[in-house]
Amino acid sequence: MKHLLSADDLDAATANAVLDTASELKRTLLGREVRKLPTLRGRTVVTVFYENSTRTRVSFEIAGKWMSADVVNVSASSSSVGKGESLRDTALTLAAAGANCVVVRHPASGAAHRLAGWLAETGTSVVNAGDGTHEHPTQALLDAATLRERLGGIEGRRVTIVGDVLHSRVARSNVHLLSTLGADVTLVAPPTLLPVGVEAWPVTVSHDLDSALPAADAVMMLRVQAERMHGGFFPSAREYSLAYGLSEARARLLPEHAVVLHPGPMLRGMEIASAVADAPNAAITEQVRNGVHVRMAVLYHLLAGDGGDRD
Ligand code: CP
Repeated sequence: MKHLLSADDLDAATANAVLDTASELKRTLLGREVRKLPTLRGRTVVTVFYENSTRTRVSFEIAGKWMSADVVNVSASSSSVGKGESLRDTALTLAAAGANCVVVRHPASGAAHRLAGWLAETGTSVVNAGDGTHEHPTQALLDAATLRERLGGIEGRRVTIVGDVLHSRVARSNVHLLSTLGADVTLVAPPTLLPVGVEAWPVTVSHDLDSALPAADAVMMLRVQAERMHGGFFPSAREYSLAYGLSEARARLLPEHAVVLHPGPMLRGMEIASAVADAPNAAITEQVRNGVHVRMAVLYHLLAGDGGDRD
């Protein structure tokens, strides 16, 4: 792997190799007092976030540090981006300064692909940490890691993704990856929060959450992306919550073995009831934990190659 820009770039063999590495790393580090592997010593990872983040930025930093890489975090507000420097010049500057990998989050769909193009001659890898409404491939990988752990596999499992699909890079990356790994994906959303052309996606589409839940092995609640809805959104927050929120009563429609996921940050009480988010079949904290191991695995596959040392 040279870059990780889209979940669509991952064939089943590559995705499973990354997931296998992540679970091996998790097993290796479990119970260790000192969580430090020498694998990426001498490598430099730079994170550049033009949008807010807690989970993704922190877990990439921890992942790099646990692999002994040098990790530098650039925030758009305190860098020369604030003086008007372009994304291209920022990227070339980071590569010239010695970045082996740039992890980028940007509000524009396609930004990570553009960055990879500009850095093609430099040997610097690019990881897409979320670009506009387009993709968030490491989120899909950590969701897949969590589903593999909780359900014992992904092939043939029925995964229902609920909510603001229109603005969700998490939904797009999950549809790509889960389909590649053989899951049956159902999208449940109000018609106003589905993208044009969704009928061509490899999914079933429904507007009725109550009828979708009894067949689900996993339900993934999406964040309502108010920051991308400049004219407000329809249905209203109250209508949305009534029809598409995972309330306690609605969660009882799920089979007993079903897993509840949410990429975070959650709007408790609107997208998901607090009691449902904190219940034993919710894997939301485990998703965050797996995010570190998955991002370690991604950095390993990008920067160490097959000959790396994982001990
Ligand atoms: N799931 C996710 O991308 O969360 P952050 O925005 O906190 O990184």
